[in-house]
Amino acid sequence: MRHFAWLSSVGVSLFLAAACGTRDPQPEYRPTATIKDIMDSTVDPSADFLWDSVATVVTAAGTEERAPRTDEEWINVRRRAIQLIEATNLLQVPGRHVAKPGEKSENPGIELGPEEIETVINQDRATWIKFAHGLHDAVMPALNAIEAKNVQALSDAGEQIDTACENCHLKYWYPNQEESLKAALKKQKEGGQ
Ligand code: HEC
Repeated sequence: MRHFAWLSSVGVSLFLAAACGTRDPQPEYRPTATIKDIMDSTVDPSADFLWDSVATVVTAAGTEERAPRTDEEWINVRRRAIQLIEATNLLQVPGRHVAKPGEKSENPGIELGPEEIETVINQDRATWIKFAHGLHDAVMPALNAIEAKNVQALSDAGEQIDTACENCHLKYWYPNQEESLKAALKKQKEGGQ
């Protein structure tokens, strides 16, 4: 009986160790850069690299069909796809600001200011996450194309990526763009130009 009690207390301790001791610590992100910084340093240059990697370039010297050809070129384009895909997770890190304090919009009236953007994001983070996932999922066909070394599929994937950028920008960055354009056109018409 005594022996049994000892055994079961070992059992309980093991159980507790399994339940508490091995639990993963909560993530402690240290968001240092702003959304603006991540756009500028990672999202934009990586997307540009992907878009530029497949192109038809016409010059006086003739037409160049640009595409990754050597193993090294495919490795480089894959690096950029990985950067772009994982940047979509960085965008979701809680506590990351849109811009540094005091930073202003470059086109006020057309673009929302960083503080306004941040308010819209924080009012409904589920939608923000949806747009970040939208970019993630739009880059996956490009990564698959790269891994299959399929130039045509990589070229086709480019447009989807562009749409994912625009969808998020239209929601948060320049939601008034359409109205501003309409107002400008109306004004032009009224001015008889
Ligand atoms: C989940 C939303 C989201 C997605 C997806 C997204 N962006 Fe952005 N982007 C923003 C927001 C918000 C801003 C405005 C931040 C600011 O500049 O104040 C911005 C700003 C930018 C800027 C201006 C940065 C600066 O220095 O002012 C560039 C360039 C940019 N995005 C490029 C891209 C490209 C290219 C893609 C797609 C490959 C993309 N973005 C996808 C949300 C997004």
